[in-house]
Amino acid sequence: MPYWGDSYRLSVAPMMDWTDRHCRFFHRLIAPKARLYTEMITTGAILHGDLHRLLDFSEEEHPVAIQLGGSEPEALAASARRAAQWGYDEINLNCGCPSERVQRGAFGACLMREPDLVADCIKAMQDAVSIPVTVKHRIGVDDQEDYGFVRDFVGKLFQVGCRVFFVHARSAILKGLSPKENREIPPLRMSVVRRLKQDFPDALIVANGGIQTLNQAQALMTPSSAGPAVDGVMIGRAAYHDPWILHALQAALCLPGSPLPPNREAILAPLQSY
Ligand SMILES: Cc1cc2nc3c(=O)[nH]c(=O)nc-3n(C[C@H](O)[C@H](O)[C@H](O)COP(=O)(O)O)c2cc1C
Repeated sequence: MPYWGDSYRLSVAPMMDWTDRHCRFFHRLIAPKARLYTEMITTGAILHGDLHRLLDFSEEEHPVAIQLGGSEPEALAASARRAAQWGYDEINLNCGCPSERVQRGAFGACLMREPDLVADCIKAMQDAVSIPVTVKHRIGVDDQEDYGFVRDFVGKLFQVGCRVFFVHARSAILKGLSPKENREIPPLRMSVVRRLKQDFPDALIVANGGIQTLNQAQALMTPSSAGPAVDGVMIGRAAYHDPWILHALQAALCLPGSPLPPNREAILAPLQSY
């Protein structure tokens, strides 16, 4: 396992229209050790857009990762380089978004069908930056739901040096379901995430999807008859429905020694001055 493994025990998921810099600052006050992720930013936006508006963040947000959307190795490499220069701590590639707009751009979840291309994208980004390049993905796409599909996807990326995988434990249904339905209707199969950890013990496997309580998170981070413990949890919607859950998650899941605010009132003053 990479030496920085412990820093992946708790993450807040990339969420469009939610995890902008202000939301991340708020989450940071609650959970000083959580890894924070930007909303997905496309390579086109980074290469042609207003970089300050897209990339600026507060120093307090570290460790903070940028999530990129794209499928062209050169554009991803150039975007990753800019993000690393901007001070981001990690580049995460989106291979899990099912939206039609994203499919037209041929990235997101449909990339799971093209592991060779994704491997080229990962390699190109790794060559461009020295920070970790990670992937967020699903466990299947449409009728490609057998375990071998996701195992081979992860295996291909592991071969080229990718070591951190955020696994949203649902298949993506690319035709007929909206992105919102795609976060609710395909069943959660956390056993698949544990099985990936079993087959890739030297990778960091982070579970995502439907984690709403500390008990759920702790169960996933404990070995069971379903397989080994996962290395961390990534929290999506629960982080905006009930942000304070991050406080309990950090207290229970992260290594001791990381300071936590003593109570909710303690974050009001820094939030006001922000
Ligand atoms: C409003 C919203 C926006 C999202 N935007 C992104 C995104 O930009 N990139 C991404 O990889 N996933 C995105 N997701 C998916 C989440 O990162 C996460 O995988 C999903 O919500 C499942 O986790 P949860 O059950 O803890 O919410 C989004 C989810 C929501 C609810």
